[in-house]
Amino acid sequence: MATLAVYPGSFDPLTNGHVDIISRGARLFDRIVVAILVNAEKAPLFSMAERVEIARAVFKNHSNVEVDTFDGLLVDYVERKRAQAIVRGLRAVSDFEFEFQMALMNQRLKPQIETVFMMPAEQYTFISSTLIREIAIHGGNAGEFVDPIVATELRKKRKD
Ligand SMILES: Nc1ncnc2c1ncn2[C@@H]1O[C@H](COP(=O)(O)OP(=O)(O)OP(=O)(O)O)[C@@H](O)[C@H]1O
Ligand SMILES: [Mg+2]
Repeated sequence: MATLAVYPGSFDPLTNGHVDIISRGARLFDRIVVAILVNAEKAPLFSMAERVEIARAVFKNHSNVEVDTFDGLLVDYVERKRAQAIVRGLRAVSDFEFEFQMALMNQRLKPQIETVFMMPAEQYTFISSTLIREIAIHGGNAGEFVDPIVATELRKKRKD
């Protein structure tokens, strides 16, 4: 049976940390779906359409990486996709408590779905979308933390 994993998040915007986790997932599973959560933030920097377009562009040469959107309960979406696993990234101990709680709740809701945690390469452990948004909004250069496609889109937001 082919293995399918769902990597959920808000990806506002996609960072090099996300790209690292997606690449690891794409090596571990036959297919991985980057699932962008609708309405995670009330005032996102990037619209859903922009986030989808960016992720598709960054992974356009990875045939086993798909990009989709979802709302509602994650486990319901995972079941609809017939995926076996949820992928999450762990940056630091600070991510652990919330992720642990969520993984156990999802396990209780759908025992057949596994949550798989992956650590990014060390140089990505301090990157978050929140910090990238802060840098971009205040006119800083976040170029070394994101794909060039994302960096270009961030510069456009600055001028907006
Ligand atoms: N630099 C990173 N390294 C490893 N995992 C990461 C990294 N950034 C985010 N993740 C993981 O990716 C998943 C989706 O995260 P999310 O879209 O919330 O990104 P985020 O950077 O936490 O954004 P925000 O700051 O807006 O919350 C989560 O499992 C999160 O822990
Ligand atoms: Mg987060």
